[in-house]
Amino acid sequence: SADTPAFKVADLSLAEFGRKEITLAEHEMPGLMAIRKEYAEAQPLAGARITGSLHMTVQTAVLIETLVALGARVRWASCNIFSTQDHAAAAIAVGPDGTPDNPRGVPVFAWKGETLEEYWWCTEQALTWPDSPTGGPNMILDDGGDATLLVHQGVAHQKTGDLPPADNEELAVVRALLERSTLDWTAVASEIRGVTEETTTGVHRLYEMQRDGVLLFPAINVNDAVTKSKFDNKYGCRHSLVDGINRATDVLIGGKTAVVCGYGDVGKGCAESLRGQGARVIVTEIDPICALQAAMDGYQVTTLDEVVDKADIFVTTTGNKDIIMASDMARMKHQAIVGNIGHFDNEIDMAGLARIPGIVKDEVKPQVHTWTFPDGKVIIVLSEGRLLNLGNATGHPSFVMSNSFADQTLAQIELFTKPDAYPTGVYVLPKHLDEKVARLHLDALGVKLTTLRPEQAAYIGVEVEGPYKPDHYRY
Ligand code: NAI
Repeated sequence: SADTPAFKVADLSLAEFGRKEITLAEHEMPGLMAIRKEYAEAQPLAGARITGSLHMTVQTAVLIETLVALGARVRWASCNIFSTQDHAAAAIAVGPDGTPDNPRGVPVFAWKGETLEEYWWCTEQALTWPDSPTGGPNMILDDGGDATLLVHQGVAHQKTGDLPPADNEELAVVRALLERSTLDWTAVASEIRGVTEETTTGVHRLYEMQRDGVLLFPAINVNDAVTKSKFDNKYGCRHSLVDGINRATDVLIGGKTAVVCGYGDVGKGCAESLRGQGARVIVTEIDPICALQAAMDGYQVTTLDEVVDKADIFVTTTGNKDIIMASDMARMKHQAIVGNIGHFDNEIDMAGLARIPGIVKDEVKPQVHTWTFPDGKVIIVLSEGRLLNLGNATGHPSFVMSNSFADQTLAQIELFTKPDAYPTGVYVLPKHLDEKVARLHLDALGVKLTTLRPEQAAYIGVEVEGPYKPDHYRY
């Protein structure tokens, strides 16, 4: 229809640049490319209509084209207003066989620097399948759970008239969207075979919905695949945290004092990243186990309150809210740098900062802002408190995303091809698939794996071909 454009990106003329980077990334994504080869004939995703809501980057482009190579049709939106790489989005819209004058790719709705209204419009467009019987997808691939949330809110609205509360800026946008939406959300939800969820925060939402008995379709928690959270969250952030800080500020990290709030998988990667640059790293934690880990890894562990007026760089990695408050920022040193790498923007109290009487916000460049306090003290806030590795840099590099996205692809195949094996609930990827994903990445790094002898396998109670560990093993 007239109000459903084929796609919406910033600038199609960037497609050629995007295609070149996609080609470079393919070589660095051996897991995804091996899966393309393995399933080329079987086409396990034929008939799948996948709505994706995940950062529209070069690496995601390789994921999208893998899903298409396996037979799926795909519609896509980014899961963050700042994370799209416009050249990647353009290349996906144009497609490998198209030209900017004759785009033939995947319907993608994403550009860097969306407003919240535009963001949720894009999510709705990705969920709108004009030629499908229900008007919606039959699979969701989510990062942070916003596509899943919109479907659930849509169904709740249709069934009970309930709308999300308007007191939260973001939910107010969702509320307005649902009030004018013409999608039959109940019909859409009824046809969805499942969702595969990328990140800690989205997984957290799924378990809450399951607990409350409101989850409408099965979900695979991709995040807790070992080859996802122990690699992407950790080694990905080890790469992309300092990349974001460097591109944003170019400040010398060596010798500075950096505070990392949270020492989970992301926090571990971030602390190592900053230490690698020669920073003195201080960790804050609420969990005694993670606090002890940080101490054993050689970091000082203390409270934010103790160090807020002494440190130079602050990074939140908790997936929790209200970690750095306006009152904390008021106590920071001149030109302290404040950024978040957790999924949502509520770790840093941006609203409270804006309410400080007399404070002045100024843009240095997109996604880098100074906030000048009435006494002249300045702090630098990255990506307006949204995840800085994607807002200020280009997110994780291809090789680590090949692991996460191989997990995603195998999870999509599981849910789409074995609906009877997954009644509504939240599952993790079976361990043999987790091990398979790791295996697909060994050759590229020149790893030579030792093969178990049958007597050894029997002695430790596993099969020669795996799985090698019980499900409760923690790596
Ligand atoms: P996690 O659960 O492993 O780690 C979070 C840690 O923060 C936990 O150890 C927890 O005890 C701690 N924490 C909670 N409240 C705290 C507080 N008030 N003060 C100090 N520490 C606190 O989660 P993970 O996997 O590390 O993910 C963290 C966030 O990062 C999530 O929102 C996740 O979705 C996101 N993420 C972002 C990525 C990116 O590229 N930007 C990549 C992967 C995950």
